[in-house]
This record gives sequence, C-alpha cells and structure tokens, in this order.
Amino acid sequence: MGELSVSKAVLRRKSVRAFRPAPVANEIIADVLARATRAPSGGNLQPWRLFVLNGDSMARFTALMETRLAENPLGEPPQYEVYPPSLKEPYRTRRFEVGEAMYAHLGIPRADKFARLQWLQNNDRFFGAPAAAFCFTDRIMGLPQWSDLGMMLQTAMLLFTEQGIDTCPQESWSRWPQTVAGFVGAPPELMLFCGLAIGYADAGAAVNRLVTARAAAAEVITFL
Ligand SMILES: Cc1cc2nc3c(=O)[nH]c(=O)nc-3n(C[C@H](O)[C@H](O)[C@H](O)COP(=O)(O)O)c2cc1C
Repeated sequence: MGELSVSKAVLRRKSVRAFRPAPVANEIIADVLARATRAPSGGNLQPWRLFVLNGDSMARFTALMETRLAENPLGEPPQYEVYPPSLKEPYRTRRFEVGEAMYAHLGIPRADKFARLQWLQNNDRFFGAPAAAFCFTDRIMGLPQWSDLGMMLQTAMLLFTEQGIDTCPQESWSRWPQTVAGFVGAPPELMLFCGLAIGYADAGAAVNRLVTARAAAAEVITFL
C-alpha cells in the first residue's frame, strides 16, 4: 500500500457502515494516528486526545455496550448537540437526503421506525469494525479547537485510506459519554467528541454502496 495521491485518497474515502471482522494490526493504527497528528491546529495546541480499542479491548467494550443497550437503548444525556435544534435550509434537506439514501440502500421504509432504531444501534457496535478510536478534547476548548479535531480526523481517515483501511466517523458516541469515558479511563477534564470505526469494508453490504452527494461548488465557493 501507500503511494496513493492525496486526490485519490480524498475521492476514495467514504463512511463505511458495515465491516468485515478481519483485524487491523495495532502497529498500523499507531502509525497512522501518529502521522495524523501532523494535522494543523491553531497555536499548535494539538487539542486532541485519542483512545484506541482493538482486539481484547474492543471485545470488552463491545460486551459492555451490549449490556448498556439492553438497559438503556436510547443512551445517556449528550454533552453537546450534534445538530442545531432546528436545522434550516439548505442543511435540513441535505441531512434528510443522506438519511433517505442510506435507508433506501438498507431497504428500510421511512415508516418503519423500529427498523430505523435497530439500524441506529449499529452505530453503538461500530458497525462491526474490529478496531476504533475515540477522540476527546479538553473541556476548556472552544469552537476553533473543535475544528482542529476535524482536521486531525480527516488526516487520519485519508492515511487509513492510503493503507486500504476504511473508517466511519461517529458523533453517535455523543449518546454514550459516560460509558465511553468510564471505559477508556478519561480524566474528567476531557470531553468526548466522536468515535472512529476502523476496519475493512464488507464489500457485499448494500449500505456501503451509498455514495453521498455534495452541493455544487458554486453554491459554497465564491470568487471575487
Ligand atoms: C464528525 C462526523 C460525525 C459523524 N457521525 C456519524 C454517525 O454517528 N453515524 C454515521 O452513520 N455517520 C456519521 N458521519 C458520517 C456522515 O454521515 C458522512 O460523512 C456524510 O454523510 C458524507 O458521506 P461520506 O463520509 O461517505 O463522504 C459523521 C461524519 C462526521 C464528519
């Protein structure tokens, strides 16, 4: 692997939501994440803190999540809002469309709320990925530093793509802040941003055939 152009990696990366059980070596994850920390951050604060689950730790976490899901399928009180409370246009439609496209691939009709809820719980199982990372930041950090987390995560996802490894960033973990912090042993000053599922795509899974749209460049880029 390697030698993938940045352009190709950007095009090839997509969110994968069904993984094969094939393991990913800790050495590869350690190498990719270490290199991802070359991402820029304002003032070089490097406000990220990562915890990796793999092998035995993933098995223990998955078992814990099954217990938690049985007790409390809706999760814990989130510590931040994933979306603004009332999305306006054009964001509302964009969000609606990606959801519809995903459920169409899954063959789940709009009215089948139960099937949708069941599907959502796949998030809580990292979509079957053998490995994952949790990204935290210090609670004192604000909007600029949260954007730094995104830069590091996209750098990591592109480097994983270069290794032929697939990912899904997951804000859904905002519904399990206590469980995640407790499991990884995060000190109280750290706040969970998201999870990152890491593994090899199940090429046969219909959900992985979803290719998301983007707004036309002219809608979001203005030259003066
Ligand atoms: C920070 C972040 C959090 C996300 N959280 C979730 C999530 O919890 N569950 C999920 O299925 N997808 C999640 N996604 C994936 C987005 O839905 C996806 O990036 C978007 O639809 C574009 O598709 P693509 O990644 O395949 O290009 C997240 C993406 C980002 C950047």
